[in-house]
Amino acid sequence: MSTTFDLFLQFSYHEAGITHVLVTGGAGYIGSHAALRLLKDSYRVTIVDNLSRGNIGAVRVLQQLFPEPGRLQFIYADLGDAKAVNKIFSENAFDAVMHFAAVAYVGESTLEPLRYYHNITSNTLLVLEAMAAHNVKTLIYSSTCATYGEPRKMPITEETEQVPINPYGKAKKMAEDIILDFSKNSNMAVMILRYFNVIGSDPEGRLGEAPRPELREQGRISGACFDAARGIIPGLKVRGTDYDTADGTCVRDYIDVTDLVDAHVKALANAKPGKVGIYNVGTGRGSSVKEFVEACKKATGVDIKVEYLSRRPGDYAKVYSDPSKVRQELNWTAKYTLKESLQIAWRWQKLHLNGYGPSNT
Ligand SMILES: NC(=O)c1ccc[n+]([C@@H]2O[C@H](COP(=O)([O-])OP(=O)(O)OC[C@H]3O[C@@H](n4cnc5c(N)ncnc54)[C@H](O)[C@@H]3O)[C@@H](O)[C@H]2O)c1
Repeated sequence: MSTTFDLFLQFSYHEAGITHVLVTGGAGYIGSHAALRLLKDSYRVTIVDNLSRGNIGAVRVLQQLFPEPGRLQFIYADLGDAKAVNKIFSENAFDAVMHFAAVAYVGESTLEPLRYYHNITSNTLLVLEAMAAHNVKTLIYSSTCATYGEPRKMPITEETEQVPINPYGKAKKMAEDIILDFSKNSNMAVMILRYFNVIGSDPEGRLGEAPRPELREQGRISGACFDAARGIIPGLKVRGTDYDTADGTCVRDYIDVTDLVDAHVKALANAKPGKVGIYNVGTGRGSSVKEFVEACKKATGVDIKVEYLSRRPGDYAKVYSDPSKVRQELNWTAKYTLKESLQIAWRWQKLHLNGYGPSNT
């Protein structure tokens, strides 16, 4: 039987045959799904999160699924705290970092830009410095299609010029630039994944998307659709009907979280010392907000009430990916359809009316 000392050692020493991954933001939506997949695939996982946005309930689910010593640990810390970050890196032997932690709402970033530059750009610098100081060899970075801004030509390839138009996209682009400059003179293996719009949840129903109630106004379309279907909000507010698209509403590329996490595992497996890989992770198909709402009505069986409003600041008309590079180089393709993703997510939402809140645990 392991002693407390042994348990501590398992995280603080490299062990042959075991890859220890630091998952920042692992209490959040995508990070928790990534941690689940990594644990299922026998990785050792440390989650660091300040719980400013994520859910400790998601971490508890993971702890219940993987209670064995040396599998999963949770560290409550703020990545903006350099001393805390350094302590974490001194006390743990990480082989790789998946850096998900971030504030991630376009609209909010236009209202609180400094918060975004601090949380995204300077925290990434701190994480990178700690990785360099402690010789952690692999970084998988969560970037976004928001770094491209509003390119004229669709679909977006990795060669499309990055001209972000809101602080969120700019902060992520700056973080990418810092990583790329650093990697020119380093042996670190770097993978930058630029996600499109992430939806869906664990098909086995263990995890879901549960933003804090106070973030609902900022929220993403899938959350808002489900909230409307559950009657938590009276209806759905669609912002912007005069965009230059077929039906006037914004067009986005919706990527399922399980597919996205699969791209991370493939990125980790293919990461090479001294090399950088940059990949768009999307389906390659654009769906308009109107189409999304119709799909959501079908998935939920609820005739969601829709109100059409003026545009939201910082939004762009049409964004969808060209995922050829990730398919060719990482052998990855999106498998879930919009309909399947929404059906799976709805199953979790229906059973978790309070997200990870007390009545659902
Ligand atoms: N959801 C999307 O559609 C989408 C699209 C493109 C890129 N991304 C990126 O994916 C990543 C994860 O997004 P998400 O949707 O899971 O968001 P989320 O808000 O659900 O998760 C982010 C997590 O990071 C944590 N966090 C934030 N600041 C922190 C700090 N200073 N220290 C420690 N922890 C901190 C939060 O508490 C939260 O648990 C982000 O980097 C985001 O920019 C998301």
